[in-house]
Amino acid sequence: MIILGIETSCDETAAAVVVNGDTILSSIVTSQIAVHHPYGGVVPELASRKHIEAIVPVVNEAIRASGMEIKQLNAIAATQGPGLIGSLLVGFSYAKAYAYALDIPWTGVNHLEGHINSVFLEPDPPPFPFVALLASGGHTSIYLVRSHTLLQPMGQTLDDAAGEAFDKVAKMLGFGYPGGGVIDRLAQAGDPEKIAFPRTYLNKSNFDFSFSGIKTAVNRYIQTHPNEYKVQIPDIAAGFQEAVVEVLSYKVVHAAMEAGCDHIAIVGGVAANNRLREKVRQEADSHGFSVHIPSTPLCGDNAAMIAAAGYHQLRQGKISNRSDDVYSRMRL
Ligand code: KG4
Ligand code: ZN
Repeated sequence: MIILGIETSCDETAAAVVVNGDTILSSIVTSQIAVHHPYGGVVPELASRKHIEAIVPVVNEAIRASGMEIKQLNAIAATQGPGLIGSLLVGFSYAKAYAYALDIPWTGVNHLEGHINSVFLEPDPPPFPFVALLASGGHTSIYLVRSHTLLQPMGQTLDDAAGEAFDKVAKMLGFGYPGGGVIDRLAQAGDPEKIAFPRTYLNKSNFDFSFSGIKTAVNRYIQTHPNEYKVQIPDIAAGFQEAVVEVLSYKVVHAAMEAGCDHIAIVGGVAANNRLREKVRQEADSHGFSVHIPSTPLCGDNAAMIAAAGYHQLRQGKISNRSDDVYSRMRL
């Protein structure tokens, strides 16, 4: 089954052509970072407008790069939620109209299920059930993944998402949006043990997270060291990153132990973090667990993961209809 995937839930306009939920023929992602960078975060109204400008060329380019003819597409999958309503509406409405014009089925995909399915676009995907950490700019949760479309929540953040904490700390240190990649690079030149930041909930016996305290702790450090902090930026970045990574990796490995699973997946934008990738692999190795992390382009938002999740939904007969709408919050 050849599926056109469309993703516009936040600030990336993306389209992809994927065969049978595991083989990418093309994946085009255009980012709006330059538009939102001066504002230190995504401006929803600007995001919607940029999606409207980009959706037609991005979808056309994905089809062209796939080497397929439009008439060879068997179905369309588009993100239905969660995300920014105005942004979601652009991709979802476009998918709806495109599917009706071609007279092919289409399905609305939960963005989080899309991230989970990104591991199936790589060789050697995990067998079910496995435990997945989804860490992005909007979500941080651990799931017991029973099938492509059945995710059982084991824990989640009670306040900020991990990616949001990276973005906010980068902003405090004088870097723009998004901040995850910047912190990752700065931390490589820093000493993670020079400045200790709190590991919230590390010792709690559940799989919930809290990242607002560490963000406040970094802010307090900056306020109380107004002159010194500027030369300590790599150490602050490394200390902050180490604290977040330690909690994420500890919790996901312990969740796998509790669930009796020996396969762990790490997905979402924060899965691109070099230290997280290394630390989870170290921790998992010491317990004999296998770790599955998508290549960096598939960690961040993309449409190939939406096409992959859509493939499994369509196989189960979940076909959307004309009255279906988008949701800023969407249950799994
Ligand atoms: O999955 P994603 O592209 O979009 C959402 O669904 O939110 O994740 C974006 C988030 C941003 O907060 C960004 O700062 C973070 O992922 N991120 C990283 C890295 N690359 C992106 N965080 C830490 N280290 C990175 N290398
Ligand atoms: Zn995402």
